[in-house]
Amino acid sequence: MKKRYFFCQESEIQEHEFLIREVGGRSVGAIRLHGRIRILLNYCPHAGAPLCKGALAPALVSGPGPTVALDPLRPQLRCPWHGWEFDLDSGRTVFESKMRLAFLAHELEGEEVFVWLR
Ligand code: FES
Repeated sequence: MKKRYFFCQESEIQEHEFLIREVGGRSVGAIRLHGRIRILLNYCPHAGAPLCKGALAPALVSGPGPTVALDPLRPQLRCPWHGWEFDLDSGRTVFESKMRLAFLAHELEGEEVFVWLR
């Protein structure tokens, strides 16, 4: 059964910088990307690294023809242990099709941010 927990004040979640808190016995990270908040477990699905301590990097995308380009509007989160990169929109990684980031449902009540956890 899921339970709702207070996470932080909305103003504490900064653009392109993770805020990491312990909530309900789990480590949780929140980040704002282009104004949109994403909240996820601070846990890499590959081998359990503290994923939200990884670096952000622009996504590699198809360019015109056979080229590739960097897209700074679609940052990837790079795991600090083995370097797998996860898309912060879809949660997917190119390294393993079945693994995804564990995004958490959240809601705002005034300035307060709450998350839902099992
Ligand atoms: S623990 Fe994250 S890529 Fe291995």
